[in-house]
Amino acid sequence: ITALRDRNTQPSEFYRLVKEIGALLAYEATEGLALEPCVIETPLEKMHSSRLAGGIGITPILRAGLGLAEGFREVIPDVQIWHLGLKRDERTLQALEYYNQLPYKVDLQICYAVDPMLATGGSAIDAITILKHRGIKNISFVGIIAAPYGVLKLSQAHPDVNIYIAALDERLNDVGYIIPGLGDAGDRQFGTF
Ligand code: PRP
Ligand code: URA
Repeated sequence: ITALRDRNTQPSEFYRLVKEIGALLAYEATEGLALEPCVIETPLEKMHSSRLAGGIGITPILRAGLGLAEGFREVIPDVQIWHLGLKRDERTLQALEYYNQLPYKVDLQICYAVDPMLATGGSAIDAITILKHRGIKNISFVGIIAAPYGVLKLSQAHPDVNIYIAALDERLNDVGYIIPGLGDAGDRQFGTF
């Protein structure tokens, strides 16, 4: 996270770090997933074991959520990726939906909405509302850096959603950026300054 925050870290390394942190967060966030019993045969004998009960979805909030989703996928290759494009209007700080590839057939045990930055909370709150309208009942939010304000707003709007973040920063500045933060997570991943 220190390297992510450093302004001298270049986009290729920044993206690699977001993926790596995404994989680490995936271990935490999947700890309580439901398992079901199964019987397999090892090369030596039959045994009773367990496997994941029900599918897992990842919703990367575009663009910045893409790196986190890739990190999750390295840990759980069988995930469904549900892309959702939200762009924060930097004047009003409202999130606007511009892309939605959420399927209508929903048979997931959980969906993780992933976005490195939880600032005012507007994007995360809207993304989770959209997932709920698609019938997803069990949703967690996974991010890298959050402002206390965003955590408060998200937990007030969706008290049933677990929130996993790697660092809780001090505050938002007057244009809605997390301080000290890391700047614009989308621009830093994709080199669009
Ligand atoms: C950033 C970030 C979050 C959002 C956080 O995305 O990745 O999605 O802002 O701010 P909020 O909590 O105040 O809503 P942005 O809208 O800039 O889009 P991008 O990922 O395409 O850069
Ligand atoms: N979005 C970002 O990418 N960074 C912030 O600090 C706030 C919103």
